[in-house]
Amino acid sequence: MSEAKRPAMNWMDVLWLLFLAGLAALPPVLEIHKQLVLLAFGVVQLSEGWLLSKTPERGAAYIVLLKIALATLLIDHTGEVGINSSYSPIFYLPVVTAAEYFSPWATLLWTALASAAYCSYLYPALQEYEITTEGYGLLAIRILFFFLAAMVVNRFVVENRRQIKRYQELAETLAETNRRLEQAQEEARRSERLAALGQMSAGLAHEIRNPLGVIKGSAEMLHQKLGESNPLASELAGYISSETNRLSALVTRFLDFARPLHAELVPQEITTVLDRALNSVLRTHKDEEGLVRVERQYQANLPLVSLDESLCEQAFVNLIQNAYDAMGSGGGTLRVTAARANNANRNGVEVRVEDTGPGIPAELREQIFNPFVTTKKTGVGLGLSIVSRIIDGHHGTIRVESATDGSDQRGAGFVVFFPTGDEAAANLASYES
Ligand SMILES: Nc1ncnc2c1ncn2[C@@H]1O[C@H](COP(=O)(O)OP(=O)(O)OP(=O)(O)O)[C@@H](O)[C@H]1O
Ligand SMILES: [Mg+2]
Repeated sequence: MSEAKRPAMNWMDVLWLLFLAGLAALPPVLEIHKQLVLLAFGVVQLSEGWLLSKTPERGAAYIVLLKIALATLLIDHTGEVGINSSYSPIFYLPVVTAAEYFSPWATLLWTALASAAYCSYLYPALQEYEITTEGYGLLAIRILFFFLAAMVVNRFVVENRRQIKRYQELAETLAETNRRLEQAQEEARRSERLAALGQMSAGLAHEIRNPLGVIKGSAEMLHQKLGESNPLASELAGYISSETNRLSALVTRFLDFARPLHAELVPQEITTVLDRALNSVLRTHKDEEGLVRVERQYQANLPLVSLDESLCEQAFVNLIQNAYDAMGSGGGTLRVTAARANNANRNGVEVRVEDTGPGIPAELREQIFNPFVTTKKTGVGLGLSIVSRIIDGHHGTIRVESATDGSDQRGAGFVVFFPTGDEAAANLASYES
């Protein structure tokens, strides 16, 4: 049906009106019916845009039908015998309009209808006159020209529509490429930030670690030596020791984050690593067993992924741990899925870790991968930046989805993509070199 939309009024309409005015000025000038029909033509022409916007589905068909009816009326009032009216080319109007809005086949049908309307005047003519072979030939030529005009205009219009569609597709592709480029730039910026911070933290953590070891050793010795003789001092030495342990764990976390990543990528089943990470977090949350429902959805026959087993396990542990933290004592559902996916023309496996916690506010979503961003009382804010580095080391991508804003659905979802196949092998080579 009608594919093209037209503006309310354009310069072509003005030309049509001038053309109608010209016809009105030509004989028979005093024939009121002819002038009324021409006026009606003008009104239809001007309201074409309005009618199309009101009924986009059927508007074009109504317009063509109206024009055929008016053309038929016009030739009835402009000649002794309608079929001989010198105004017969008025049928070009509905024919060209149909060619403008319809497909080639529909245009042919509309042209046939217009021709039939014109030929309907054959019947009254035959009642009074006898039509010669030459007369029939003339009629056939007129009708053939209707078809010729319809096909020429329609071809042009169809070609035009095709071009517009191509430009639209091109614009969409460009927009998509642009979006991907921006995403890649954002990821690159994040990696750079992490690398710089990592170097600084590594130096600092290294320097802190040695004195910490000495403090811890001394506190333990004090604790042993004082024993029962000085309970208060012994208790204080115990605090020193336990707090040093906390500090030491923190420093180890810093070093995990800062240490240059040596990923040994070996093709393996990602679901095995996922299961191991899940079980390890589940073990530490034994008390909340009834509260959190765990759903695993792994697609069958997933391709092998080039992974560093322990790094990946660590990344998954961090994500799963965050999901547990988010759901807290209220409990909820933790859904872990793994499925084939295609990301920026790369085949791979997508792992999703989704929870039904409060989700992540939009303003925080950009920052959570930066180090030391945390909303937890006892959090360090390194978990996700470590995940991000590990995924970078696998040439994968990570993004966060959260549906807290707008929709009813709650919770956060982390989507990690790992490339597979040839791409993974090529990346592995470039990563090691
Ligand atoms: N599943 C989640 N649901 C809601 N918020 C989350 C989720 N995962 C992460 N966050 C938010 O992102 C922040 C950063 O997470 P990240 O794992 O980096 O640090 P952390 O968990 O606070 O500390 P840690 O270093 O111990 O992991 C969290 O403090 C939390 O606000
Ligand atoms: Mg965390």
